[in-house]
Amino acid sequence: MQATAIAQPNIALIKYWGKRDVSRNLPAVGSISITLRDLFTRMQVRFDDGIDSDLLTVNGSPDEKMLPRLSACLDSVAGQGRSWARIESTCNFPIAAGLASSASSFAALTVAAAAAMNSPADTLRLARLAGRASGSAARSLYGGFVELSNADDDIDLRQLCAPDAWPLRVVVAITATGPKPVGSTEAMKISRETSPFYSKWVSEQEHDLAIARQAIAARDFEMLAAIAEQNCLKMHSVMWASRPPMVYWNAATMRCLQTVRQLQGEGVGVFFTIDAGPQVKAVCQPEAEAKAETALRATEGVRDVMISGLGEGARREPCG
Ligand code: PMV
Repeated sequence: MQATAIAQPNIALIKYWGKRDVSRNLPAVGSISITLRDLFTRMQVRFDDGIDSDLLTVNGSPDEKMLPRLSACLDSVAGQGRSWARIESTCNFPIAAGLASSASSFAALTVAAAAAMNSPADTLRLARLAGRASGSAARSLYGGFVELSNADDDIDLRQLCAPDAWPLRVVVAITATGPKPVGSTEAMKISRETSPFYSKWVSEQEHDLAIARQAIAARDFEMLAAIAEQNCLKMHSVMWASRPPMVYWNAATMRCLQTVRQLQGEGVGVFFTIDAGPQVKAVCQPEAEAKAETALRATEGVRDVMISGLGEGARREPCG
């Protein structure tokens, strides 16, 4: 009744923003992401009849904050009649800082819980359950380039390209730490209810997905760069035009965009994307990584830089 799993965060190139069913956490739009390799969350789940509530530690310290959502996710995998569980989470990157730690956490949790229950590992089923907890988490069940699409009554997922088949690199410029001012569920609701651009955003998404799919199939970096940057800026335009406006950027976020533009002007293969937070993710061709790292480190206001290749989906750890 115990198992350990590891999962990596993913970065959306064509973003998910908005829900079509809040109670089941179903997205309003499809999305395409890349799963990272070098940032990870490891989750151990141990069902224990000797305790009278779920217990969580994060990096060795007791944690109450994430527990209700993790408990609900455990219920969805193991059933409401399950035993209480000891959950031990370890993460090698800042939590709740806009680096998709919830995606890797829920993805790893579903795999560990199913393994601890001796349930067959059905990746799509676990992805759907992870997606109930956090929309973007469903994508971390798969590696490389991943598409999440809306099915009739649920979501579907598929890998578009294996991580080794197009080994891009990601340089993450951290411009601030600490939790975001408005969580994504609340922010998506505000966008849907108040942004004049929301319906346009939803109606254009199929077009953006199709272009990105085509760019990935052709390994066309320029094409992917153009559609990913536009899709990201469209999502932020939806947020900026909401009431109250939701601006997740800071001055250093903007400076990082200028750094990326400058690199592009010099012919360096890099583009940016930004999620609901102030960090800038620079997606690079392998030979562009060093230049992107140096330039982003030297950008005023950048506190740290993390680098990752592309990796596999969530999986059980052999020893767990
Ligand atoms: O999965 P959530 O609820 O944290 O929402 C993620 C939303 C974005 O990161 C902004 C976009 C995405 O597709 O990951």
